[in-house]
Amino acid sequence: MAFADMDVDTIWMDGEFVDWEDAQVHVLTHGLHYGTGVFEGVRCYDTERGPAIFRWEEHLDRLFDSAKPYDMEIDHDHEELTEATLELIRRQDLESCYIRPLAFYGYNSLGVSPGDCPTRTMIACWPWGAYLGEDAIENGVDVMVSSWRKHASSQIPTNAKATGPYLNSMLAGEEARGNGYVEAIVLNKEGNVAEGPGENIFLVKDGEIYTPGLAESILDGITRKTAITLAEERGYEVHDEATISRGELYTADELFFTGTAAEVTPIRSVDDNEIGNGSRGPVTEELQKAFFDLVERRTDDHDEWFTYVNEQ
Ligand SMILES: Cc1ncc(COP(=O)(O)O)c(C=O)c1O
Repeated sequence: MAFADMDVDTIWMDGEFVDWEDAQVHVLTHGLHYGTGVFEGVRCYDTERGPAIFRWEEHLDRLFDSAKPYDMEIDHDHEELTEATLELIRRQDLESCYIRPLAFYGYNSLGVSPGDCPTRTMIACWPWGAYLGEDAIENGVDVMVSSWRKHASSQIPTNAKATGPYLNSMLAGEEARGNGYVEAIVLNKEGNVAEGPGENIFLVKDGEIYTPGLAESILDGITRKTAITLAEERGYEVHDEATISRGELYTADELFFTGTAAEVTPIRSVDDNEIGNGSRGPVTEELQKAFFDLVERRTDDHDEWFTYVNEQ
C-alpha cells in the first residue's frame, strides 16, 4: 500500500516530530549517493494490552552495531529513540505497525569519505500487513534460487543492516518476481544457501531443523533467533550453524523463511520443485502457530520481549 493511502502524518527526525511532508533531505545527502545508512525493521503487534513492540531492545542493539563498521555516531541513545517511537505510535493511534528507524550520513560534502557529514536519524511507523501476502502465511510461497550471489562478509559486513547492500536484495527479489516467483533464495560466495533478500531460511529434514550459521553471509535475524528458541522449547534439535547446499533445498521435508516483515512464511516450492508435499509442513505449522501466539500475546511466554506502548 502506498504511503499516500495510509492514515499516518508524523515522522521523528533528528530529535523533532515533523509533519510527514516535511521530513525531507537535500539531494546531495551522502547516504543517497553511496548507500551510507543503517536501519532496522521492527514490528509492533496489536495485543489485548494494546500495541506491543517485539524485541525492541535487540533491534536497537543491532542498529548501533550496524553503525560500528561505518564509524557512524548515532547522536541519540536507546532511551531517546524508544521515547520517540512510543510517542509516534501513540500520536498516530496505531494499533499495530512496522517501525523503521534509519541513521545515515547527511549533507556536507560528497567525497566517498563521509568526512564531516552529520549523522541524521529518523523513525517512521506505518501499518503493514503480511509482507509476502496473506495467502503466503498459510499456503506458502514459490521461490527461485537467484542468479545473484550474496556478497561475502569479507566484502561488506553482512551482519550489519546497512542500506547500500540492499541493492543485492533488490536484484535477487526483482529477478524472482520478474520470473513469476514470490521471492528469491540467495546463495553465498561458496554457492551454499545464505538467506532470502529480506529473510533468513530454515530447513526441516527427518524431524530436525537446520539454518545457515552467521559465517554463511547472513543477517543475524531477530526472528531467526526467536524461531530457534521456540523450536528448542518444543524439543526440536536445531542446527543453527549449518552449511546447506543448494541440492539440500530440493530434498528438504520443509522449508520456511523468517523475518520481521515475512514473520514465519512456508516455502512450498524452489525452482518449481515441490518441497515435501507442496504445502505447509507440520513443523512449520507448529512453529508458525507458536510465533503468532507469541507476538499476538495469546501466551504469557517471553513477556520480556515486548514493549507495551500504553504501559510505558
Ligand atoms: C537480508 C535479511 N536477512 C534476514 C532478515 C531477517 O531479520 P529479522 O528477523 O531481524 O527481521 C532480514 C530482515 O531484516 C534481512 O533483510
